[in-house]
Amino acid sequence: MTEMEVEVELDTEIVTPKIPIDKINIGKRFREELGDIKALAESIRDVGLIHPIVVDINNQLIAGRRRLAAFEHLERKEIPVTIINIEDIQKAEIAENVERKDFICSEMVAVKRYLEPELVATAEERMKEGKPSSKLDKGRTDEKIAKYVGVGKTTLRKAETIVEAAEDDPEKWGELIDEVDSDETSINAAFKKIQAQDRAEAKAALARTGKTKAHIKKQDCKEFLNELDDKSVDLLLTDPPYYTDIDDIESFVDSWLDLALSKIKDTGQAYIFIGAYAKELKTYLNALENGEGKRFGEPQILVWTYKNTIGPKPKTQYKRNWNAILYLRGPKAPDLNCIELVEQYSVQEFSAPDARHEVKYHKWQKPIDLAKRLITQGSDEASFIIDPFAGSGTFLLASSELGRKNLGVDEDDEVIKKAVERGCMIDN
Ligand SMILES: C[S@@+](CC[C@H](N)C(=O)[O-])C[C@H]1O[C@@H](n2cnc3c(N)ncnc32)[C@H](O)[C@@H]1O
Repeated sequence: MTEMEVEVELDTEIVTPKIPIDKINIGKRFREELGDIKALAESIRDVGLIHPIVVDINNQLIAGRRRLAAFEHLERKEIPVTIINIEDIQKAEIAENVERKDFICSEMVAVKRYLEPELVATAEERMKEGKPSSKLDKGRTDEKIAKYVGVGKTTLRKAETIVEAAEDDPEKWGELIDEVDSDETSINAAFKKIQAQDRAEAKAALARTGKTKAHIKKQDCKEFLNELDDKSVDLLLTDPPYYTDIDDIESFVDSWLDLALSKIKDTGQAYIFIGAYAKELKTYLNALENGEGKRFGEPQILVWTYKNTIGPKPKTQYKRNWNAILYLRGPKAPDLNCIELVEQYSVQEFSAPDARHEVKYHKWQKPIDLAKRLITQGSDEASFIIDPFAGSGTFLLASSELGRKNLGVDEDDEVIKKAVERGCMIDN
């Protein structure tokens, strides 16, 4: 049977035909170490293949490298596959009653890695063309993929944490992902296990260094900022939602930036993380040039870069493996506190949080070590630091570890829960 002869009903999201093994493209992203394929082959021979492997419509393997190897070991010529057709997902909502195979944990993550770049690129294209946001756009991409693989987006995020942990430290977490994939342990229980370890480590770090807690509350950023006295803040360290997550970047920036800057002392400083999009940069730079930003002089554009991005990107674009950080200094700000001159670079490289480096609580979580570096350089122990878009509390926790008073808000209940799980306390 050739690729063209594979019977695929393209208007169904997932179908499970068999395809010839020698037609499957494995690609380069699968690890070479496949573990005990003989044992897996024996199990498949005895009980059959419970989960078909996952491929796209070009027979590119998405998940199931070990099962494929086991079929080869058994000298089988064909293998059952679940075929994913991204165009179907882009075209329409997934019907609730679509016939689907259950994906195992590692497959859910593989499917997400496969789908996400294209769905995000499509959403960006739509925005560039000025089309109204579709249900596929922005924050909905995650939800869409989760729905496609048959779970909620929180479960999918937990699955990602487990897979990333196992990829990074197979000795420590490799068995856990196997247990989850074989249904011996639930995604939730496995996630909790990883989290418990992370919390224990965070608590130990706090016990070593912490002089103050990380404070967060659920509130809209503007309401929060309006409650602060003008020129009462030493450091604004924040990471507002990006261009791709909001409807109108200009009115969004207008709604909070000048207000936040008005709260910074003349001796104060600000680091504002923004997305790697021309339109976003342009909007912020314009706003700074024309409003309260003038008090801080010309902003310096710093860059946070990372190499651990996932998934292929469309061939017409480079991976956006950076964020801009707009760095502002009040007219009387002290010199940078760069203990080691080696740190005084405008490009800072830190891996993006994934379970290899720290547990991921928030989609846009920032590296805590980067936060600590900026806080050390841009404030001192007497400083008061605010974050009006605190997310999972990275900047507040880093402030607390460095003994700085801090306060942050986030408007999202779920996100606040994550921050509390990480060690933030709710401020009343
Ligand atoms: C890019 S994320 C911050 C991630 C954070 N730096 C971390 O490491 O977890 C932006 C956050 O802003 C929050 N947010 C968006 N609009 C807001 C508003 N008007 N007021 C308060 N929080 C808001 C979102 O819920 C989201 O958690």
